[in-house]
Amino acid sequence: MHPLSISLLLASGCLPLVSSEPVATPHTIRIQSRVAPKEATLRRRALSPATVPLADFFLGTDLQWFGNISVGTPPQNVSVVFDTGSSTLEFASTLCGSACDNQVKFDSTKSSTFVDKKTTSSITFSTGVGVDPVIGSNYKLTLRAATDTVTVGGLSAPKVALNLITSQTAKFAIDPFSGIQGMSAQAQGFFAALTKQGLPSLFSLYLTPQAIGGAELTIGGIDNTKFNGSLTYADQSDQGSSTWTLTSPKISVNGKTTSTLKQSRDVIFDSGTSNILFDTETTEAIYALISSKIKAHTSEPGTYGIACSLIPTLPAVIDIGFTDQSGKPFNLTIPSSELSVGPFADSPSTCQTLINAFDGLSLVGGSVLKHYYSVWDVGAQRIGFAAI
Ligand SMILES: *[C@@H]1O[C@H](CO)[C@@H](O)[C@H](O)[C@H]1NC(C)=O
Ligand SMILES: *[C@@H]1O[C@H](CO)[C@@H](O)[C@H](O)[C@H]1NC(C)=O
Ligand SMILES: *[C@@H]1O[C@H](CO)[C@@H](O)[C@H](O)[C@H]1NC(C)=O
Ligand SMILES: *[C@@H]1O[C@H](CO)[C@@H](O)[C@H](O)[C@H]1NC(C)=O
Repeated sequence: MHPLSISLLLASGCLPLVSSEPVATPHTIRIQSRVAPKEATLRRRALSPATVPLADFFLGTDLQWFGNISVGTPPQNVSVVFDTGSSTLEFASTLCGSACDNQVKFDSTKSSTFVDKKTTSSITFSTGVGVDPVIGSNYKLTLRAATDTVTVGGLSAPKVALNLITSQTAKFAIDPFSGIQGMSAQAQGFFAALTKQGLPSLFSLYLTPQAIGGAELTIGGIDNTKFNGSLTYADQSDQGSSTWTLTSPKISVNGKTTSTLKQSRDVIFDSGTSNILFDTETTEAIYALISSKIKAHTSEPGTYGIACSLIPTLPAVIDIGFTDQSGKPFNLTIPSSELSVGPFADSPSTCQTLINAFDGLSLVGGSVLKHYYSVWDVGAQRIGFAAI
């Protein structure tokens, strides 16, 4: 998920939007200006990589992948989305009333290592849990800052900064997980602590479709059993930014492109979101190359759809072009099977298509990432992909 805005604290999850401040682009949320020196990742290799199994939140389409971390002493299990679109850790707590009743709540009074920082903040996301566009501040979390011991894949770090969710908007109620663990391009939280203890400064995601299963996060390493062939790496566009972004010089659809699609754009990679967001002009240029029958679904601004009966007949191969570290072009390819994300609730014979228009943002999520094994190399400021 991608924060639109964060008031007071830096929070996390699905690309956040804005809370009380004016809507900002994600570029305003950069929190650190420096790439960690390379030696930092080589200094000590005291910790071995660890793997966390992930479950798939599936609602007609694969939405998000989540797994367990544990927090506190003695440890309480907390399930979180591992979200490359955001930077902080937050999860439901017993301070959250009935708004969090569908989530397992962390009870800070039961942890001897819990330290309340007594500051509050809120975070509003620009991409939500499902495939529906975010409207206003309908994806908003209210938070209270704290520190506690956090364990991920058996690797523990003390005094990790985190946020207890004290209130949340109704849109979060369907989540089968309790929170969000930001996995941004600058090490923070448990990940920064573990890299200081000698864990290599990278993590990998294997985000499989529900039908395949076995999704996993590997922290500090790469699970070479999950792909054949080699990884292709591309440099993070803005080295030192916390937002994972690659520059795309071109998009092609069914082998064709247009002048609009040949414009260079910075694409955010957000594992906490399933859909794709492009500005309206790009969105409509892509759809025009698939079918003139794909139309804006006006009751949900930003979404598009087409008769579900037409979906199986439509080739809709989207190649998002990038450039690897040696200057060679490569594509991340979204197959036709991703075109539909399921029927609209208000029009069950119309299927929503995978791109939502969102002016000012280019962002891809699960619908791209589930076709690749991905390596998020924080230390070297690059992302690697291998087809799966
Ligand atoms: C998380 O842990 C619970 C037990 O506390 C277990 O039932 C669940 O399957 C685990 N989830 C994942 C994704 O591993
Ligand atoms: C937490 O989850 C792990 C594995 O997912 C499980 O072995 C353990 O029993 C769980 N602990 C609690 C308190 O549920
Ligand atoms: C790698 O290729 C072999 C031989 O084609 C195949 O059996 C195996 O399933 C592949 N593994 C992965 C992870 O794709
Ligand atoms: C990327 O996709 C486009 C459109 O299908 C194709 O023309 C181009 O050759 C592909 N590039 C690579 C490096 O495969």
